[in-house]
Amino acid sequence: MSANPRGTILVIEDNLVNRRVLQAKLTGAGYACICREGGPEALELLRGEAGAGIDLVLLDVMMPGMDGLDVLRRIREVRPRVELPVIMTTSLDQTADVVRALDAGANDYVAKPIDLAVLLSRLATHLDLKRVHAELRASHRSLVEAAKMESVALLAAGVAHEIRNPLAQIKMGLDALEEAGNGDGDTAGGRGQLTALMRQSVERADGIVRGLMAAAANQKLKTAPGQVNEVVEETWNLVSEDFTKRGVLGRFDLGRSLPAVAYDRSEMRRVLLHIFLNAAQAMEQGGEIAVTTRQEKAAGLAASEGARGAGHLRNGAPAVAISISDEGPGATDEVLERMFEPFFTTRAAGSGIGLGLSVVRKLMELHGGAVQVQNRTERSGLTVKLLLPTSRLGFL
Ligand SMILES: Nc1ncnc2c1ncn2[C@@H]1O[C@H](COP(=O)(O)OP(=O)(O)OP(=O)(O)O)[C@@H](O)[C@H]1O
Ligand SMILES: [Mg+2]
Repeated sequence: MSANPRGTILVIEDNLVNRRVLQAKLTGAGYACICREGGPEALELLRGEAGAGIDLVLLDVMMPGMDGLDVLRRIREVRPRVELPVIMTTSLDQTADVVRALDAGANDYVAKPIDLAVLLSRLATHLDLKRVHAELRASHRSLVEAAKMESVALLAAGVAHEIRNPLAQIKMGLDALEEAGNGDGDTAGGRGQLTALMRQSVERADGIVRGLMAAAANQKLKTAPGQVNEVVEETWNLVSEDFTKRGVLGRFDLGRSLPAVAYDRSEMRRVLLHIFLNAAQAMEQGGEIAVTTRQEKAAGLAASEGARGAGHLRNGAPAVAISISDEGPGATDEVLERMFEPFFTTRAAGSGIGLGLSVVRKLMELHGGAVQVQNRTERSGLTVKLLLPTSRLGFL
């Protein structure tokens, strides 16, 4: 998304005077404006990192070299109409071009010489459409996730319950084997290795079962008012020794005198544990996990977000935020979009089941809060922000 709240417009126009005029008008109307003289430069910009910040393109049809229609087709190869609206600017005698441009994926056109009022109203319309489309997409996603989660819950509750008992039996068997193996000379070594392997497998199966049960549980939270800093520190203490061995260190910047929030201590510990583990796993060579806690107003929540939780957090509502940033590679757009899906994982087969973040989201929503994820901007890495509403205390 663009850094400018009104939006960032890319103007592609070969005529210097027109460029200057448009830039002045758009900036005057509160938009951020980037200009490019021709197609190739504009396409290069769109492909680069700055390209993601462009909200709309204003594209001249008639240009020397690569003309507007060619540029448009190239843009459409990678960015669909709903994602990056393109408005063509055309002279009055170019009706045929207008039709061709609309066919090739232009969203709209304005006639030259450009009438400022018309241009601004078209810009507003297309930026609105784009925003509405993004919201619909997000809410569709979250409905799909909810549905998947519900079917997972049904299946998991049954399966997990059934598997737990045999697992417990196997564990007992292993204990017995290990005890019997003690002091058995040569064979004990081989057997010890075998039992260790078996124990690993059993533990993994047990972990999956517990993950499933957590995902399935229709938890009633046991909330009590408290300071988030406490559960942050407490959870970190559970992992810090193991993390230190792996070269993963924590840096804490915990807000003083934060308002109390209502939370379920053991569930929030589970949430933080998942996030800490993901962060550490993202840094194979080690690195720093930066944790901050702050009081702030919720922002950037999609309309649908948290809609499943009771009394969910809305933009502008007061909240306490726990942000966890790692120094890993961050996540691609595809992963960002899918990471909350149950069973979505990019880890090697056998090492992750992809339930961590879906459990996190579910638990945060049960708390009336939310979880937000974004790549860091100042360096590579991912930031996960957990928001807990402060207003809920009123209901206690
Ligand atoms: N800190 C992070 N940096 C980069 N990618 C991440 C990070 N945290 C999560 N991801 C991505 O999101 C995916 C889903 O995470 P999630 O915690 O739900 O499942 P998982 O870690 O793969 O498995 P598990 O069920 O063991 O937690 C991960 O496989 C990874 O691709
Ligand atoms: Mg995980």
